[in-house]
Amino acid sequence: MNDDVKKYIYGAISVFLVGVLTWVGLVYVSACGFTLSCNRGDIPISRTPVPTLIPATLPAMQPEDSMVVAAADVCYVAAADLVGAWVDAGASDTEAFQFTDSNGTNCESTFDEVKPLFVEANLWYSGSFSCISCHSVDLAVSPAQLDLSSYEGILAGSRRAEGASTGTDILGDGNWDSSLLYEFISEAKADVPGHTEVLSSLMIFAGTPLSVEATPTP
Ligand code: HEC
Repeated sequence: MNDDVKKYIYGAISVFLVGVLTWVGLVYVSACGFTLSCNRGDIPISRTPVPTLIPATLPAMQPEDSMVVAAADVCYVAAADLVGAWVDAGASDTEAFQFTDSNGTNCESTFDEVKPLFVEANLWYSGSFSCISCHSVDLAVSPAQLDLSSYEGILAGSRRAEGASTGTDILGDGNWDSSLLYEFISEAKADVPGHTEVLSSLMIFAGTPLSVEATPTP
């Protein structure tokens, strides 16, 4: 008799405990899933309402000033057009060449500003490899046996036999539009690694204006 009552009491307690544990478990799993690293109950971090970054307040630029500054500073041009102007002007190592920038300003530059376009990574588009990461000085591994790491390498061209000083001219014999270099910069080639994207949209600041005279606004 006494044992029976005990049984009922213990039975009721265990049913209750199992129920509570199941309930807590269900709530946890439905909120957090099967993980032990659940932090949904953490106190949310509230941000300070006081702005910690004070916005820079510069005087508004006057149109005349900005034109003079832009004109006196540097030119703005599509990277491919800069290379093109260099090629069309004879692809000199040291001599300056001229080009018209995207604002119609007459500008001047040298090979020093063309070379980084082949050497720098993350330039033509976000995350892009540098040209020389593939077209390196080591012709044994360079695709198309093309070395873009130096002036001599660029001029020597592609598909050079071992030790040969020249190969296929990639500069179109001084005619940019018909050059291999132009083709590989302006066309996406789905099946050539490193050339799956069109590169000719990159705009850069390069060169110096030939005259600091501001172009009149219409
Ligand atoms: C991921 C490696 C890679 C990168 C980066 C790369 N290329 Fe290439 N490039 C290739 C391959 C592969 C070919 C095709 C080789 C072949 O057809 O045998 C090629 C071919 C070329 C050719 C044609 C040569 C020929 O004779 O057919 C030119 C020009 C060229 N690349 C220029 C560039 C320039 C300029 C850059 C940088 C903007 C660049 N490449 C970046 C891999 C690369």
